[in-house]
Amino acid sequence: MLSRGVFRATQTTGLSCSARVSLTASRKAPCASSALSAESRRSISVYGYTQAKALIYSKYGEPKDVLKLHKHSISAPHGSQVNLRLLTAPMNPADVNQIQGVYPSKPPFGISLGTAEPAAVGGNEGAFEVISTGASVKNLQQGDWVIMKRTGQGAWRTHAQLDESQLIRIENKDGLTPLQVGTVSVNPVTAYRMIRDFCGWDWMRAGEEWLIQNGANSGVGRAAIQLGREWGIKTLNVVRQRKTPEETEALKQELKDLGATEVITEEEMLTGNFRDMVHEFTRQGREPIRLALNCVGGKNATALAKTLAPDSRMVTYGAMSKQPVALPSGLLIFKNLGFDGFWVSKWGDKNPELKENTIKDVLQLTRAGRFKDIPVDDVQWSWDTAETQLAESVQGTLGGYRSGKGVFTFTGGD
Ligand SMILES: NC(=O)c1ccc[n+]([C@@H]2O[C@H](COP(=O)([O-])OP(=O)(O)OC[C@H]3O[C@@H](n4cnc5c(N)ncnc54)[C@H](OP(=O)(O)O)[C@@H]3O)[C@@H](O)[C@H]2O)c1
Repeated sequence: MLSRGVFRATQTTGLSCSARVSLTASRKAPCASSALSAESRRSISVYGYTQAKALIYSKYGEPKDVLKLHKHSISAPHGSQVNLRLLTAPMNPADVNQIQGVYPSKPPFGISLGTAEPAAVGGNEGAFEVISTGASVKNLQQGDWVIMKRTGQGAWRTHAQLDESQLIRIENKDGLTPLQVGTVSVNPVTAYRMIRDFCGWDWMRAGEEWLIQNGANSGVGRAAIQLGREWGIKTLNVVRQRKTPEETEALKQELKDLGATEVITEEEMLTGNFRDMVHEFTRQGREPIRLALNCVGGKNATALAKTLAPDSRMVTYGAMSKQPVALPSGLLIFKNLGFDGFWVSKWGDKNPELKENTIKDVLQLTRAGRFKDIPVDDVQWSWDTAETQLAESVQGTLGGYRSGKGVFTFTGGD
C-alpha cells in the first residue's frame, strides 16, 4: 500500500433511529427514544413502498431549464436489489456538462422511474445508506454506506433501488463522514491516478521532485496537493487571483495549510518573472518538475508545460477555460515531453479493482486525518425542497470563484 501513517478509527458516525428501523416487521416498533419525524413518515408508505424524488432531465440544456424534480415510488427490494437513501452527493463540473449534452458520456434516457418522457437522473457520485435489501443480497446490510461503482448511474435522488453488483460497500465507515465518502470516487481518485500512473518518480529523491498544476484550489487540485505531501512530491500550485490581495493571500495560505509547497496566481505566472520564480523554487533547476496536471488549458497550460524538465509529462484532465492546449514544438522535439489525457470514468470501468483500492487508500488517509475535506456549499435537500432551488444550485456549479463545491445533503428520513 502506498499511503503511510498510523490509521485511527476513533469517531463512530451513529445512524439515526429512523435509519436503523427496517422497512419490514421491525418498522412497527420504532425506537422509543425518538419517534420518526413527520418527514420520514411522509416518505414511507405503509405498504412497503418508499416515496422518492429524483432530479432528472429528459432533454439537454442549462440545468435551471431542464432539471425536473420527479416524485415516484420504489418497491421493496427483490433478489439482489438494494434500496438506498441518499446521504450526500456533490455537484461536479462534469455533471453540468452532461446535462448540457456536451460531455462525451451520456447516461441513457429511460422510463424506469415512471417519467412521462425518457429521462436520466443527474449526478455521478454520492454516498448512500442501505435501508433494505433483497433476499439474495450477500454483502450488504441495512445501515451500510455505499457508493456507486460506476459514474452515470444518477446520484441526485433521495432514494434509489440498485443491484448489489452496482455498488461498492464502504468497509469501515467509522471515522468517516457522508461528505468524505460521497466525494471520494471522482476527484481524489483522479488526482491519485494521475500522479501515480503518468510519472516514473524517483522515490529515492523524495522531497526533491515537483509537480505543477493549475486549478489547484479545485477538488482534484486539493487532492493532488495532499497526496503530493504524503508521497514526498513538492507541488507548485497555480490559482486564479481573487478580488482583493487579502483574499488571494488567504487562498494561498489555505492551500499551503493542506501541504502545498508553493502557490502562485495565474496572473503572476503569465505576467511576472515566472521563469525566475520557478528557478528559485526548484533550487536553480536541481529539483526537476516532472509532472504537470492541467484542467484549465490555453496560455495557462502552455506556461505549465514550459516549466517541465526533459522527458516529463503533462496530463490534461479538464478544460475549464475552454481554450485549446497549444504547445511550442520545441517542447516535443528537444525536451521529449509527453502529453496525455486522463478520464477517470473510463479508467474506472477498465480497472474496477484498482479503483476500489484507490478509494480505500484515500479513505484510510481521510480517517487518519491526513486528507482534509473540500470546502463545501451545503445544499440541504429535504422532502419539501423546491425543484427550482435544487436546479439553481446545480446551475451555479460552473460559476467560478466559488467558496466551496455545491453538495446535496439529504435531510429526509428513510
Ligand atoms: N478527467 C477526469 O477524469 C476528471 C475527473 C474529475 C474532474 N475533472 C475536471 O477537473 C476540473 C476540476 O474539477 P473539480 O470537481 O475538482 O472542480 P471544482 O472543485 O468544482 O473547482 C473548479 C475549478 O475550476 C476553476 N475554474 C473555473 N472556471 C475557470 C476558468 N474559466 N478558468 C480557469 N479555471 C477555472 C476554479 O477556479 P476558481 O476558484 O478560480 O474559479 C476551480 O479551481 C474540471 O474541469 C472537471 O471537469 C476531470
